Amino acid sequence: MLFVRHVLPGEHVRVRVSEEGPKGRYLRAELVEVLDSSPDRVEPPCPYAGTCGGCDFQHATVGAQRGLKAAVVREQLTRLGKVDWSGVDWSGDVAPVPDIDPEQPGLRWRTRVRFAVDDEGRAGLLRHRSHDVVAIDECVIAHPLVDVPEITSTRWPGVDEVSVTTSPEDDERAVQVGQARGRESLRRRAAGRWWQVSSGGFWQVHPMAADALVDAVMELAAPQPDEHLVDLYAGVGLFAGVWGSRTGGRVDVVEGHRTAATDAEVNLSDLPLAQVHAVAVEHYLAKAAKLSPDVVVLDPPRMGAKRPVVEAVAAWRPRAVVYVACDPAALGRDVAYFAEAGYRLSALRAFDLFPMTHHIECVALLVLS
Ligand SMILES: C[S@@+](CC[C@H](N)C(=O)[O-])C[C@H]1O[C@@H](n2cnc3c(N)ncnc32)[C@H](O)[C@@H]1O
Repeated sequence: MLFVRHVLPGEHVRVRVSEEGPKGRYLRAELVEVLDSSPDRVEPPCPYAGTCGGCDFQHATVGAQRGLKAAVVREQLTRLGKVDWSGVDWSGDVAPVPDIDPEQPGLRWRTRVRFAVDDEGRAGLLRHRSHDVVAIDECVIAHPLVDVPEITSTRWPGVDEVSVTTSPEDDERAVQVGQARGRESLRRRAAGRWWQVSSGGFWQVHPMAADALVDAVMELAAPQPDEHLVDLYAGVGLFAGVWGSRTGGRVDVVEGHRTAATDAEVNLSDLPLAQVHAVAVEHYLAKAAKLSPDVVVLDPPRMGAKRPVVEAVAAWRPRAVVYVACDPAALGRDVAYFAEAGYRLSALRAFDLFPMTHHIECVALLVLS
């Protein structure tokens, strides 16, 4: 197996092998020259593309990027999830979300940027698969509020990173320097509500992401009045808050990060039937075997939920499980565990929340087979 970055399907290229995996199982290679290029190839909008490790799809049109991502989703769910697509409601496409600046498609969306700082105190971004800091004076995917030129023209002696988080909805910016983190909160807006998000707490990076995901979760879950939802890996309570305000039903919110759980308590304080559990999902599931929620939403980190969590969720026999996933391979593995536990993939939505990168977000509906 040979992995080569910055090449497109159908191209004829010259590459240089840069790395060999254990026992020669795979090789990595760098692009040296494009001999015959794809019609989807474009000049990267960023001068640091290829040097900075942040974006790996800048050499393709935004439409072609989505096509590549859709192919990955289908392949991973077929290979790892063993999905039979005949019964699955999915257009096969990765949907775009609205651009921040229609004149700059796929750019200016990154509301949170972590800059690494080099020995001379210069803030930049990391080189691909390296700890080297690439000095930059601009980042074309960063939201204008991040103000990259200001951060990178300032010297930050004695710190190893500068982290900038912004709220375009509230026109606010928080800058955290080095490891000594204060607790700063920003207000974000999604689904017609304001959400408190403190430093360290999770919020989607693309400003349009939260609305897109809430709409997909609600469309697929189709909540009925008074239904009981368990929201696992709930962050600051986004899905649970919308569910509770629309159904008036009971919501149990499970979030392991203490600060995020505290934010969830604030964000859901108008919902009398909402309860926040500031514990690890595994711990909660071990004690909640007797619950019988109507619907479970789960939005785990990149590595997925894994078999024990999937089995415990399926054992509740909810009428629907809505799984929000940022890694299609992890989703594929968990879909296979759900199939063993009696749940099949019924519908899928995929969103291009990270243009210019290979990353992709999926929302999957699983129902009893
Ligand atoms: C991808 S975020 C999703 C947040 C939320 N659903 C949203 O859309 O804003 C995953 C969340 O799971 C939390 N988390 C990760 N591992 C966990 C675990 N084992 N138990 C509980 N929460 C966990 C993280 O702190 C993070 O808030």
